[in-house]
Amino acid sequence: MSAQPRVHILFSHDEIKATVRRLAAEIKKDYQARDPLLIGILTGSFMFMADLIRLLDFPLEVEFVRLSSYGRGRQSSGKVRVVKGLTSSVKGRDVLIIEDIVDTGLTTSFLLDYLRKKKPASLKLCALTDKPSRRQTPVIIDYLGFTVPDKFLVGYGLDWDEKFRNLPDICYLEVEE
Ligand code: PRP
Repeated sequence: MSAQPRVHILFSHDEIKATVRRLAAEIKKDYQARDPLLIGILTGSFMFMADLIRLLDFPLEVEFVRLSSYGRGRQSSGKVRVVKGLTSSVKGRDVLIIEDIVDTGLTTSFLLDYLRKKKPASLKLCALTDKPSRRQTPVIIDYLGFTVPDKFLVGYGLDWDEKFRNLPDICYLEVEE
C-alpha cells in the first residue's frame, strides 16, 4: 500500500479570512476608481479570487488564464505552458494578477512578461502566499498575504495531484515512508 500523506494546518481559515480582508483593503485603496482587470491563474487561485473580489465593492473585471508548470506531481517541470489564454484586451488597463503561490517564480514571471508586452496601463501582482526559499527567478509581489516555509502546501485552492483543493485551511503535507 502506498504511503498516505498526513495533513497539518499551517494557516486556519480564520487567519486566511483576516489576511484576505487586509489585502482587499490595500487593493481597494489603490484601485477603487480605476476599473481594474484582475487576472487569476488557474486552477490554484480560484478560491482566493472568489473571496477577494467579494470584498472589493467597486467596479472591476475578472479573467482567468491557465498556465501550467507542474502537471500531476509535486515537482515543477520548469516549463510554463499556456493552456487557456486571455479573452479580454489588457491594453491600457490597470491589471492585477491574482496568484495563490509564488514558488520558483517561473509561472508569475512568465505571465508578467506576457502581459507587459500587451501594454497595460499598469501591471501588479497579488499573491496569497510566497515561498522565497524556492525562487529561481526574481519576482516582485506588490500585495502579499503570507510568507511560507519550504513545505508542500495544499488546501484553499492548492493541490497535490489535483486533490485537497477543497480544504478551507492552508495545510502542509507530511508523507510517511
Ligand atoms: C501552481 C500554483 C502557481 C504555480 C507557482 O500552479 O498555483 O500557479 O504553481 O509555482 P512557480 O512559482 O514554481 O511557477 P500549477 O502549475 O501547479 O497549477 P494549478 O494551479 O492548476 O495547481
